[in-house]
Amino acid sequence: MSSLGPLERHVALVGFMGAGKSTLAAAVALRVGRPFLDLDDEIERRTGSTIAVLFARGEAAFRQIEEDIVCEVLERLEPHVLALGGGAVLSERTRRTLRERATTVLLPVDAADAWRRVHGAGRPLAQDRDAFEQLHRERQPVYADVADATAHDADDVVLAAAGVLVERGALHRLGALVPGDGSTALLSDPHVAGIHGMDAQLALGKRLAQTLELPLGEEAKTLAALDRIWNDLRLDRTGTVVALGGGCTTDAAGFAAATYLRGIDWVPVPTSLVAQVDAAIGGKTAIDLPLGKNLVGAFHWPTRTVVDPALLETLPREQRLEGMAEVVKTALLAGEPLYELPDDELVRRCAAYKAAVCLRDPYDRADRKVLNLGHTFAHALETAAGYEGLTHGRAVALGLLAALRLSGRDIGQVEELLHPQLVKVDRDRAWEAMQRDKKTVGGELRLVLLEESGPAWDVPVPPAEVRRALDELIAK
Ligand SMILES: NC(=O)c1ccc[n+]([C@@H]2O[C@H](COP(=O)([O-])OP(=O)(O)OC[C@H]3O[C@@H](n4cnc5c(N)ncnc54)[C@H](O)[C@@H]3O)[C@@H](O)[C@H]2O)c1
Ligand SMILES: [Zn+2]
Repeated sequence: MSSLGPLERHVALVGFMGAGKSTLAAAVALRVGRPFLDLDDEIERRTGSTIAVLFARGEAAFRQIEEDIVCEVLERLEPHVLALGGGAVLSERTRRTLRERATTVLLPVDAADAWRRVHGAGRPLAQDRDAFEQLHRERQPVYADVADATAHDADDVVLAAAGVLVERGALHRLGALVPGDGSTALLSDPHVAGIHGMDAQLALGKRLAQTLELPLGEEAKTLAALDRIWNDLRLDRTGTVVALGGGCTTDAAGFAAATYLRGIDWVPVPTSLVAQVDAAIGGKTAIDLPLGKNLVGAFHWPTRTVVDPALLETLPREQRLEGMAEVVKTALLAGEPLYELPDDELVRRCAAYKAAVCLRDPYDRADRKVLNLGHTFAHALETAAGYEGLTHGRAVALGLLAALRLSGRDIGQVEELLHPQLVKVDRDRAWEAMQRDKKTVGGELRLVLLEESGPAWDVPVPPAEVRRALDELIAK
């Protein structure tokens, strides 16, 4: 692996003065659970002087101090969310250090808005309007050159921090979007390969070394399928696995990348709604065992995730419904009707919600557990159904009903959106599966519930209440 992955990088907000970098960086830091640092404040703290006083001694001297402090922060501190001064990126050394140590995100602002916000505040470079606009024009190409992404809100910054790009048509720029310059192996199932494989191959161009096919559906997530991939891969350690497909493809290809040569880079290009809002975000990869799903796997964060919502246009209706169950789950967690949004925005907002949770808790030790809302019930029903005739999406729709009831919430919205159908399974089998679930602590079930203050995890619920909620999901 060539360079630092998203989890090891700072997030550095750059842009002209008045863009609102500090406010946004502070908000993003809270969401992703990282410390926030404003570099102008840091310079003032370390020098014991104000930016205005330092600047008055000459811009060149100020820029030198700025470069030293910015580069030291980038090189020495654990990953932060940083707000850089508007001129910091003029330094070649700072730009180089940003490329090595940070995901750099441009927060654009037009000259008129910037002037309105900053003039009269005593900023040394915001005294004369013509000079200010001239400077604004001159800086644009420098920002564009150093930025890995452009952000218009906190979700955009969160996505950039996670290495996720959500952009209509991105598939056609895939060759340029896969980090590094090594070869790539393109993995997909035969169905997706038939629809979008050629576009992906063309976009990867000279970087494409091989294309490999995974079996359709959960068959991809078997040891037999992995055995074939491990043996067929011809990449060296500079290579990147590109996983084009639904969650089965991204889970299996991601696990292949996590293990092949002790781990090489990978880039998921999710094509199903499930994968765009869920499976391809957050770095969990896995295969199944006969004993149960996702029992062998690895945390392996992709170097980039390329989400092209246009790919959803070829997705069959029933697969879209599968994804809507996870969208509704995300909307309940976020407390916003994200399911009402048009596709591109729906995918961007849901992916950002999951990305923030996973950045906060990449190894699933604490609050990432909220993503299991409704899933303890869903898994129990799936097990009782023997995975026959009950899809994960249908099971999640029912699980959400149970979680809402136990949270004392109204279920009308979920019924209207997902039309959950009671399932015919053995009640005792479902209850047994529920108790065997790994979230049981000392016989007491711990669930994700929605509380006044937001989602809470590991909430103990008396077994009788859980059993009643489970029974309500099962047809008589
Ligand atoms: N790693 C995680 O965090 C995570 C999260 C959620 C789900 N998952 C896993 O994801 C898997 C389910 O993912 P899935 O529902 O995407 O299944 P899938 O990969 O089997 O895709 C579903 C079907 O849709 C087809 N398809 C995909 N994209 C298409 C497109 N654009 N046009 C036409 N057809 C398309 C596929 O060929 C397949 O037949 C499960 O194994 C689940 O465990 C993983
Ligand atoms: Zn799910």
